[in-house]
Amino acid sequence: MATLAGASLARAASEEDAPEMKVNAATAAEIAKLPRVKQTLVEPPFMPEHEQAASGGPRIIEVTLPIIEKKMQIDDEGTEIWALTFGGSVPGPMIVAHEGDYVEVTLQNLATNMMEHNIDFHSATGALGGGAITKVLPGEQVVMRWKATKPGVFVYHCAPGDVMIPYHVLHGMSGAVMVLPRDGLKDAQGKPFKYDRAYFIGEQDYYIPRDETGAYKKYEVAGEDMADSLDVMRTLTPTHEVFNGKVGALTGEGAMKAKVGETVLFVHAQATRDTRPHLIGGHGDLVWEAGSFNDKPDTNLETWLIRGGSAGAMTYTFQQPGVYAYVNHNLIEAVLLGATAHVVVEGDWNDDLMVQVQKPGPIQTT
Ligand code: CU
Repeated sequence: MATLAGASLARAASEEDAPEMKVNAATAAEIAKLPRVKQTLVEPPFMPEHEQAASGGPRIIEVTLPIIEKKMQIDDEGTEIWALTFGGSVPGPMIVAHEGDYVEVTLQNLATNMMEHNIDFHSATGALGGGAITKVLPGEQVVMRWKATKPGVFVYHCAPGDVMIPYHVLHGMSGAVMVLPRDGLKDAQGKPFKYDRAYFIGEQDYYIPRDETGAYKKYEVAGEDMADSLDVMRTLTPTHEVFNGKVGALTGEGAMKAKVGETVLFVHAQATRDTRPHLIGGHGDLVWEAGSFNDKPDTNLETWLIRGGSAGAMTYTFQQPGVYAYVNHNLIEAVLLGATAHVVVEGDWNDDLMVQVQKPGPIQTT
């Protein structure tokens, strides 16, 4: 970065009226010299392989994001949605960069799709977050590049315009970006901080239309539910509120895993609706509630708020084994609508922290 910043500073200094905001702007020739690396995106809750502290200077990170319209089951009762997805999953895959990197996105709208799509990166700078320069019809691809100037976690989503914006996002079209500081995360004291594992939880509200009998309706093709589902959306009352696309997706076989003593980073995104994550039996040791890694994290939170349209990050070092429920602590949404995940933690129990002193038995009077 020294070379790039130095060159840009020298250029600005020679132009006294250069606007301050231009100081760090690299030229096309400078950007062209940057090393390129392909990032292989993976299905959430996993994150792509990444360094926590960057070992080198800024790079151009190439990612390919196919848009796939597909029928998905969103619970075990057979409820379906024609989901609109980035990468085939709800949420779309996490992209990881470091501050100062460039992210070059090849957005592919598969020829088998029905609709026009685009992408708005909350992490990017420029009107519509890239939405205006990424519109693609079925069978087309577009390449756009944005510079990671703000460290933190951010939502990305489709935003094709008008009613298509809520329609697409509420059918699954969002994901997240993590821009790490070049030297990695810092704890509340400003000391370098590392995590042992990282998970991405994308929370999704669905609005599934019902027929006269109250049963969830099924449709033959993507988009056929348009009028019906917009009507349900107007009630602002979701029929499902789920983590990673489906009720129970992150429980059982899909549960997240950790070991006692491990520090786990959880990134939680919700593209449209407020949510309040809570790790039952644990805490938010460090919480970047609004997602900016330039801010000092809060410590020891019991529950934190993820504003609709944002992502937040939390780390916890597990102290005890067991099955931890990670929930949206609106417990109606957690238990009745689906917003519950599990973290299965292996290790030794610590009686000092919690113990059953007496087994259940008849009430004793003294
Ligand atoms: Cu779309």
